[in-house]
Amino acid sequence: MKRAAVILAVFMVLLLLSGCGKPNTAENEKASVVVGFSQLGAESSWRIANTESMEKAAREAGFGLMMENANQKQEKQIDAIRSFIAYRVDVIVFSPIVENGWDNVLNEAKKAGIPVILMDRMIETKDESLYTAYVGADFYEEGRRAGEYLIRKADAIHAGHLNIAEITGTVDSTPMRDRQRGFMDVIRTDPRFTVVDSICGDFLRSKGEECAIALFEKFGPDGIDVIYSHNDAMTLGALDIMEQRGMRPGEEILVITVDGEKEAVDALKEGKINCVVQCTPDLGPAAMSLVKDLTAGSEVPKTTHPEEGVFSDFDDLSNPGVEGF
Ligand code: AHR
Repeated sequence: MKRAAVILAVFMVLLLLSGCGKPNTAENEKASVVVGFSQLGAESSWRIANTESMEKAAREAGFGLMMENANQKQEKQIDAIRSFIAYRVDVIVFSPIVENGWDNVLNEAKKAGIPVILMDRMIETKDESLYTAYVGADFYEEGRRAGEYLIRKADAIHAGHLNIAEITGTVDSTPMRDRQRGFMDVIRTDPRFTVVDSICGDFLRSKGEECAIALFEKFGPDGIDVIYSHNDAMTLGALDIMEQRGMRPGEEILVITVDGEKEAVDALKEGKINCVVQCTPDLGPAAMSLVKDLTAGSEVPKTTHPEEGVFSDFDDLSNPGVEGF
């Protein structure tokens, strides 16, 4: 482990010389365990909170953290993982932007004997030995919770037929796939619902705006009864467009979103969003606890899901527990 600390110091110097990366710190130099962390980007408040959670948890555990942000590019994540292998970190943690295309680089990590923890998102592979553990949400369950809310709401308002527009996250990412699958599995057989469109907003607020504009151009303001959006950032973008057009989100159109960032929970309290399915970004403590166990030679569980719930207009929203991150 000492060697990893020396290597970390060299890595940091090289990064500084190349004009990128974080400055080395006394804590990093002293660290006996070094974690290579490839974050996928900074596309949402969720992601920023997740990065902070990882940094804080690593600091508190006394681990050195070599973090690289891939700015939404899979090639950059692959390069980062290769650099972590070259520098012989103790554990690699990464949040895969999409599910496919990781087998080669993860085989390289396996050959180098470096355990890999998937944090937040999963990969699709025939060889489960390519990663040691996954820590992150049960996205399928989140999708189901969104669908269950819609059924409950439709019952409560005695809805006839409802046209649903889905704004999805990044294509081929785990939250996109599983939030869609879980939602559809719950509503599919209910004749009251038709999904009229499903368009990708890449988890970005700006694209949420673009999606809303495209949807209202295609279907008109009365052609959509429900917006199911895969994250708060896109939902908030769509809300901006609805409000600019004098529409009343939450009343004329039911809005269901996922994450639970403060701005979205506030919009729920104001009646502009109907349901927020929680997805916690605070995965750092669980991820670092896995690192600790692995480096101590202990067995770790293959899958760890955080506890999550739902806030909606069926709840007492003045409750102090109803707050965003
Ligand atoms: O993978 C988690 C998702 O990624 C969050 O729901 C979204 O906000 C983020 O960008």
